Amino acid sequence: MTSTDADFVSAVEQEHKEVRGFYEQFKSSQDFENKKRALIELIRSLSQHSHKEALYLYPLVESELKDGKHLVKVAIVETDLKKIDDLADDAAEHIEQIKSLLDQLMADFEKHIKEEETDLLPKLQQELETKQEKARRLVKDFREGITIVSTRPHPEAPMEDIMKLKEADRQAQIKDLEKDLKRFGITDDESAGLHPRLLFPYSHTKFDFRLYLCLFM
Ligand SMILES: [Fe+2]
Repeated sequence: MTSTDADFVSAVEQEHKEVRGFYEQFKSSQDFENKKRALIELIRSLSQHSHKEALYLYPLVESELKDGKHLVKVAIVETDLKKIDDLADDAAEHIEQIKSLLDQLMADFEKHIKEEETDLLPKLQQELETKQEKARRLVKDFREGITIVSTRPHPEAPMEDIMKLKEADRQAQIKDLEKDLKRFGITDDESAGLHPRLLFPYSHTKFDFRLYLCLFM
């Protein structure tokens, strides 16, 4: 084990950074297709982050910190993300509405980042200094969680019930993939291979594009 195996603060902050990065790409891209791609990546990244925190980070905060229940109020609300997701397929038509919704969403996300990075994570880090096994477990869950969480926003998902949330994610995952593949214009194994990041969450299932086509197209 290395010291980074227990560095859950960096693991969470890295995901915050990734979402910010896609937002910057969305704002700065002059080419519309690049802008839309950044938007779709942002939706995926933020959805996965939101569910991973609900599954792994917040339960640990609640169990380890005295004011844990109060601290997890920073959880991301996916309702606004879902509104953007619903408009994303016809982004050209709804671009002004998307920009406005996204600006508001990212303003809220900045508050989420600030509260987590300046309050919640430092407190948990201090508490886990003598419980490194729990810290390592959290990092592992964050790394591996990408294979089980859904990649689209599901505001109706039971975020405070881990077992139900896992089941909701399991049920949503393949449908999410179906939508993602269409959005990225993937139509065969070869083009799927060009998007390893897109298919990474499903790599553990030995994803077979032909089987997928038979089942869902
Ligand atoms: Fe977060």
